Amino acid sequence: MKHLLKMLDLSTEEIIEILNLADQLKYELKHGIPHPHLKGKTLGMIFQKASTRTRVSFETGMYQLGGYPLFLSSNDLQIGRGEPVQDTARVLSRYLDGIMIRTFEQKEVEDLAEYGSIPIINGLTDFCHPCQVLADLMTIREFKGTFDGLKMCFIGDGNNMANSLIVGCLKVGMSVSIACPNDYQPPKEILNFANAYSNKFELTDTPMQAAKGADVLITDVWASMGQEGEAEKRRKAFTGYQINDELMAQAKSDAMVLHCLPAHREEEITEKVFEAHANEIFEEAENRLHAQKAVMVKLMAN
Ligand code: CP
Ligand code: NVA
Repeated sequence: MKHLLKMLDLSTEEIIEILNLADQLKYELKHGIPHPHLKGKTLGMIFQKASTRTRVSFETGMYQLGGYPLFLSSNDLQIGRGEPVQDTARVLSRYLDGIMIRTFEQKEVEDLAEYGSIPIINGLTDFCHPCQVLADLMTIREFKGTFDGLKMCFIGDGNNMANSLIVGCLKVGMSVSIACPNDYQPPKEILNFANAYSNKFELTDTPMQAAKGADVLITDVWASMGQEGEAEKRRKAFTGYQINDELMAQAKSDAMVLHCLPAHREEEITEKVFEAHANEIFEEAENRLHAQKAVMVKLMAN
């Protein structure tokens, strides 16, 4: 494993190795056991979109691993003024030991990996959010003890979160059921993967159908970063695609609820369900730190 660009690139074994290391790093942190695996290394963090969790968890995680995190806003980089990503990649490879990037196009992340010579970590693109889904898988395993026999249901937009959840959950052996409006389904590349990978994948436009017997219910905002101009249109299209008490009644009685955050209460999830599952949702947010530290150690320690 050279980079973390998308869940599609990871094998099941690589995912499980990351999760096992994440559990270990979490244990060590809670017990005051230092783990300076990245002493003397520098991670550049390029942000072309806003972030609370990704920025703070990568920055803190790098510090806890004994390394140095360098925050790079695209407003201040030449990349923001049009310097080609091919050149940026070759220059930054000479200063840094790894790059985390949050941007719009997946191609930009793939290009950084192709032209640079250091590990690249995808901190969210319009296509996927692998760091979040590794933390989600870690949280599911932590609460349920296993992935065997579990069903994950995603309600809402066929967006970056849906894409990564479909791939990640199928790869660890879970059943996956997605409910999206017809005009907002995940892209063909993801649907083709899912249908070819296993017979444990279902796509529907009916949330009540998708939620039946689910062990884990997940949703995300109706309008992602960069789609603010479509917010009104999306609000109409997604009405009814909400995790609420009625939907929870379709799921298993001990079903957990996850949300990558930020959440829009009374849109994709009701305040009541959100608060009833706040312990899972905020453990999930914490697990970003541990899962990403595991990814950085796997990619950058030597
Ligand atoms: N879930 C997540 O990626 O949060 P941020 O946008 O705050 O980084
Ligand atoms: N789908 C959301 C996820 C935010 C973490 C977005 O891209 O804005």
